Amino acid sequence: MPSPKGYSRTQIALHWAVAVLIVLQFVLHEPIAHAWDQVKDGLAVDFSPLVAVHVFGGVLVLAFALWRLALRKTRGAPPPPAAEPAPLKMAAQIGHLALYALMILMPVSGAAAWFGGVDFAAEVHEAMKPALLILVAVHVAASLWHQFWLKDGLMLRMKRAED
Ligand code: HEM
Ligand code: HEM
Repeated sequence: MPSPKGYSRTQIALHWAVAVLIVLQFVLHEPIAHAWDQVKDGLAVDFSPLVAVHVFGGVLVLAFALWRLALRKTRGAPPPPAAEPAPLKMAAQIGHLALYALMILMPVSGAAAWFGGVDFAAEVHEAMKPALLILVAVHVAASLWHQFWLKDGLMLRMKRAED
C-alpha cells in the first residue's frame, strides 16, 4: 500500500460525512425501531420520511466506507506518528479496522432485517450498537488526547488535505 504524507481531500470529506451520518443514525433510530416492532407484530407500516432517512443514511455509510477502503488501497493512508509507541500504533490500527468493520456490518445487518425480514439480523444490528458507540467514544477521546495532551498535530491530518 502506498504511504502518502496525509489524507486526500476526498478521504477527509468522506471521514467527516460518515461521522455526521453515524450521529444521525443514532439520533433518528426511534422511528425505524418503532416501525420494526410493527413489522414483527404483523402490522402494516406506512411510509415515514424518518424511517427512509435511517435506511438511506445507513446505505450511504456503507457506500462511503467501501469508497474509503478502495481509496486506502489505491492512494494509501499516512503512517502513524513516528513517536507513537508500537502497542499504541497497533491499538489504533485495530480500532480503525473495527470501525471499518462496523461501518459495513451495521448497514448490512440493518438491510437484511428491513428488506429481508431476517429477525436475527435485527438482533445483530441492535447488539452492535453499543460496540459502535464505545469504539467511536474511544476514537474521539484518542483524537482529543493527541490534540490537547500530546499536541502532535494529529487532528490536522483530518483537516488539511495533502492531495
Ligand atoms: C468528532 C468525531 C471524530 C474525530 C475528532 C475523529 C478524528 C480522526 C482523526 C484525527 C483521524 C486520523 C488518525 C490518523 O491519521 O492516524 C481519524 C481517522 C479515522 N476515523 Fe475518525 N474521527 C471522528 C469520528 C469518526 C467516526 C464517527 C468514525 C466511524 C464510525 C471514524 C472513523 C475513522 C477511521 C476508520 C479512521 C482511519 C482512517 C484511515 O486511515 O483509513 N471517525 N479520525
Ligand atoms: C451505519 C449505519 C447504521 C447505524 C449506525 C444504525 C443504527 C441503528 C440504531 C442505533 C438502531 C436502534 C436499535 C435499538 O432499538 O436499540 C437501529 C435500528 C434499526 N435499523 Fe439501523 N443503523 C444503520 C443502518 C441501517 C440500515 C442501512 C438499515 C436498513 C436498510 C437499518 C435498519 C434498521 C432497523 C430495521 C432497525 C430496527 C431493528 C432494531 O432495533 O435492530 N439500519 N439502527
